Amino acid sequence: MQYLSAQAPHAPGAAQAAQRRPQRAACSTPAAAEARSRPAASSRGQWTRPQAAQQQEAGNGSGAAPANGSGDFFAEGREATERQRLFNTIAPVYDQLNDQLSLGLHRVWKRMAVKWSGARTGGAALDVCCGSGDLAFRLAEAVGPSGSVTGLDFSANMLEDAARRQEQRRATLGPAYDMSWVQGDALALPFEDASFDAATMGYGLRNVADIPQAMRELHRVLRPGCSVAILDFNNASDNAVVDTAQAFFLKSFVVPTARSMGVAEEYEYLRPSIQRFPTGPQQETLARQAGFSAAVHYPLAFGLMGCLVCTKAR
Ligand SMILES: C[S@@+](CC[C@H](N)C(=O)[O-])C[C@H]1O[C@@H](n2cnc3c(N)ncnc32)[C@H](O)[C@@H]1O
Repeated sequence: MQYLSAQAPHAPGAAQAAQRRPQRAACSTPAAAEARSRPAASSRGQWTRPQAAQQQEAGNGSGAAPANGSGDFFAEGREATERQRLFNTIAPVYDQLNDQLSLGLHRVWKRMAVKWSGARTGGAALDVCCGSGDLAFRLAEAVGPSGSVTGLDFSANMLEDAARRQEQRRATLGPAYDMSWVQGDALALPFEDASFDAATMGYGLRNVADIPQAMRELHRVLRPGCSVAILDFNNASDNAVVDTAQAFFLKSFVVPTARSMGVAEEYEYLRPSIQRFPTGPQQETLARQAGFSAAVHYPLAFGLMGCLVCTKAR
């Protein structure tokens, strides 16, 4: 096994990297700049669980959502276990599906997320819900061999894939970057306060059982003045055209493609998970409540995707 267990009280590498690096000046990100010219997010909406979701969960005693084939992924108290199982199941086809389903565009969005995270040469960067490491590898390119990257996920299969990809990169790209893979929970990050200069989270926030807690943890582990870029599908329920297009895309393209790889049920989970996900303005509000001094949500791909950039006060 080439990654660290969830019990690790602190990711080796992160502390050492932090110690050997001088305290950097606070990072400047689009969020910080734009926040000055935008209305306070708190005036634009609070996140509450959509009523339809509440009714659906109340309607079937177990809290599961079997009607859409999404199993127990939303069952209160069992979300984490069920989702861990889900990601372990799809791990073998995850990268291939990502490329097919986004026509390769997820790479562009991930590159933007890394840029917005403010990751710089020599910095200590964190990728939460790293999966097979796509964003973490891009962070490694941004921080370079003098920096360090920690990828955290609770799926053992995903982390094995990430470690395998790192080995392949080592063979083709030459000298290894300082990267470590940690099995752990995004809701209780096994890192000291203020350990990282930049963070990313790709398609993870929508999947955690407690979004405000995940945001508090991201805030806690970032150094003052530094940012996290959180990339995910956008809940476009405030835009009927985009919402309809997204629903059509998922039903007519994503699920059939996933079915051809034997993981249809797992991808049927996407639509209801997006409907339960806070909208961009709601995410901005949650980020401020979690302690971030600035938070801006950028719609991407005509509003099908979004990236929330949150900055911790200096
Ligand atoms: C859709 S995948 C995204 C993977 C990768 N970030 C990417 O963009 O390709 C979501 C990942 O979040 C992880 N995840 C979900 N909830 C988590 C939690 N509470 N703690 C750690 N990882 C979690 C899953 O195991 C999965 O690998």
